Amino acid sequence: MNTKEQPIDREVLVGRVFTPATPVSEGALFAGRMVQLRKVLDTINQRGQHTIIFGERGVGKTSLASVLSSRLRIPGTTVIAPRVNCDSADTYSSLWKKVFSQIDLLRKTPTVGFQMSILEETVKAADVIGEEVTPDAVRRMLTLLADTGLFIIIFDEFDRIMEPLVRRSMADTIKALSDHDVNVTLVVVGVADSVEDLISQHESIERAMVQIKMPRMSRSELQQILDNGMERLKMTMDEDGKAEIAALSQGLPHYTHLLGLHATRVALDRGSLDITSREIEPAVKRALADVNQAVRGAYDRAIFSPRKDTLYAQVLLACALAGTGEFGFFTAASVRDPLSTITGKRYEIPGFARHLNDFCEESRGSILQKAGVKRKFRFRFRNPLMQPLVIMQGLSEGRISRAVLGRDH
Ligand SMILES: Nc1ncnc2c1ncn2[C@@H]1O[C@H](COP(=O)(O)OP(=O)(O)OP(=O)(O)O)[C@@H](O)[C@H]1O
Ligand SMILES: [Mg+2]
Repeated sequence: MNTKEQPIDREVLVGRVFTPATPVSEGALFAGRMVQLRKVLDTINQRGQHTIIFGERGVGKTSLASVLSSRLRIPGTTVIAPRVNCDSADTYSSLWKKVFSQIDLLRKTPTVGFQMSILEETVKAADVIGEEVTPDAVRRMLTLLADTGLFIIIFDEFDRIMEPLVRRSMADTIKALSDHDVNVTLVVVGVADSVEDLISQHESIERAMVQIKMPRMSRSELQQILDNGMERLKMTMDEDGKAEIAALSQGLPHYTHLLGLHATRVALDRGSLDITSREIEPAVKRALADVNQAVRGAYDRAIFSPRKDTLYAQVLLACALAGTGEFGFFTAASVRDPLSTITGKRYEIPGFARHLNDFCEESRGSILQKAGVKRKFRFRFRNPLMQPLVIMQGLSEGRISRAVLGRDH
């Protein structure tokens, strides 16, 4: 490739294209998710319908909510999409104050003087609504606002709200908005396995609420993230490189960004604009060096053993490679094959059942979570982002070869 054609500062640009720590908000860098996007857009176009986006941590929920306004280009209509982050201390009032502090109102006051005139000033909607915000006051304010534009109000990290009353008041608000046919759309976003986990009394608002479950991203969606990045950077990545990064990411786009970032830097360091699978190994090393101390500590604690001949590291790696079903769950049976590949020896479930249980214990930092009933237990990584990390660690320690990743588990 010719570097002279267009002088772009790739060293700087790469950090804007691959953003492992921030949600995507720019339409052109947003990859895949067509099914989910279409579903939310349909909801917005239907009066009385609201939506709830839920799924595992880190699958891309905030990014989906963030690109909504840029995908809604309706001629002659202003789209206003305030997004607020909920936290555990929030009350119903504080949540709506956060929303309304992002909305400006134009207040017109007639003034009497030498000549009658109108005084116009902008005020925040939050200043108008008063101290104690009730669902009824919210409905009235939103009814007024609905005439001025297309409002999409996003409540992100809704799972952080601890107070059941706040969740209930939000359900009441959704019901009231729907019953009164107020033309605004609420989008509730949070980490959860089901809608019930996120919003109380969901039965009463079932018809008003479209549920959007965010699965992990497919390998082709993850590869599209890399394609978008390469296009922006005017660089290339070969098919093997993309496939390896997508496989390592295990459906979690954070790692596609992280490895995309490092692979690009490795290539730039050797003066090339073409990334190949050669760059992946050093990229994994750099990514692992970047991992924060808390995550590293959690990994070390999970596999710790004073004895050298224990299987903890191998079993944890096999768990990370086990086929994950919905919400990251896997069964003990699905650990068997990867464990045999790693150790080169056939293991049956009783040979590692104890390790699986130990990983759920506090003494090993509860790196795994157990669900279900006896004989049908399912496990998953408590923090899904730990799973790709365990695989990368396994690779860098030479416990597995990259070929193992080629299999679509
Ligand atoms: N569709 C997408 N295209 C490109 N990158 C994405 C996409 N979705 C998510 N990402 C990237 O993946 C990472 C995680 O995304 P995001 O923060 O949206 O996930 P989340 O589900 O909101 O996470 P959390 O549960 O921690 O709030 C970010 O680096 C983001 O840039
Ligand atoms: Mg988020």
